[in-house]
Amino acid sequence: MIKRPRRLRSNEILRKMVRETRIDKSSLVYPIFVKEGENVKEEIPTMPGQYRYSIDTISGKIESLLDAGVTSLMLFGIPNDEDKDEVGSAAFSENGIIQRTLEAVKPKYPQMYFITDVCMCEYTSHGHCGALCGEDVDNDKTLELLAKTALSQVQAGADMVAPSDMMDGRVAAIRDILDKNNYKNIPIMSYAVKYASAFYGPFRDAAGSAPSFGDRKTYQMDFHNIKEGVKEAILDVEEGADIIMVKPAMSFLDVVREVSNQITLPVAAYSVSGEYSMVKAAAKAGFIEEDRIIAEMAVSAFRAGTNVYETYFAEEVAKLIDEGRIG
Ligand code: PBG
Repeated sequence: MIKRPRRLRSNEILRKMVRETRIDKSSLVYPIFVKEGENVKEEIPTMPGQYRYSIDTISGKIESLLDAGVTSLMLFGIPNDEDKDEVGSAAFSENGIIQRTLEAVKPKYPQMYFITDVCMCEYTSHGHCGALCGEDVDNDKTLELLAKTALSQVQAGADMVAPSDMMDGRVAAIRDILDKNNYKNIPIMSYAVKYASAFYGPFRDAAGSAPSFGDRKTYQMDFHNIKEGVKEAILDVEEGADIIMVKPAMSFLDVVREVSNQITLPVAAYSVSGEYSMVKAAAKAGFIEEDRIIAEMAVSAFRAGTNVYETYFAEEVAKLIDEGRIG
């Protein structure tokens, strides 16, 4: 036998030398929930180890992320129920939860990069991702709401905006309003390829954003499709997106691979709440080894072609990298 693949596996130094996938902590993004109130740090029941913070407690988490070497986060806002309305006006209010969080916290942490999720579902009384027309979301009316939301987040200090609503044309609408207001260099990370997925279940519980009727299938994608994902990605490239996201990650790595082959922008993958909760539940039951599963999930996303990896396990992934176990 001349060819023995095992030869390159015979020693740890050699195995690391020939690794095909290299990952680095600067690719990690941590999603974080901020809510109204004071002195709040409440654990999310469906996501053990993840919390909802108030503006005055979020700093503790930011410091722990920075200590771990995680330098990007994505903010999700949870308004008070009485501030929700038909069109989600609390999303673009100067006094909104995201706007106030950025004003209070951003100046204290210049080493942290603040991305904001742009969507209406946390702020609408009906929990859909935009303004309704009958029982469906009115695409074009929602574009204005999303653009106003993105602009107000940037005015409050967001470094990058990430629209997650899946309306057609929202990247162009957001690019246009940002440019008109002289925010030409604020990038847009578009959740271009976002599937209608049961993996978002724990998030909706965490953010109180489940739709009060129906589902999101008229705007989020059918999980049987991959070409449609490439189409969505290309449209958002044309509309001026800077980074294209695929979401969820774990069951959609074929889509990550295909999108990263087809476009020249950086690709992000979001390992969503349901992925996190499954790992936590199975580890708690003693069915799996949590850290090794986290390692394989992270590395597989990069192997599939992602450049940016958003995960509730960002600190754990950073630690695995520090320990030389992955990367
Ligand atoms: C808002 C939004 C959702 C997630 C990110 N942005 C929920 C949804 O579309 O229902 C899900 C993230 C997660 O599950 O971790 N539209």
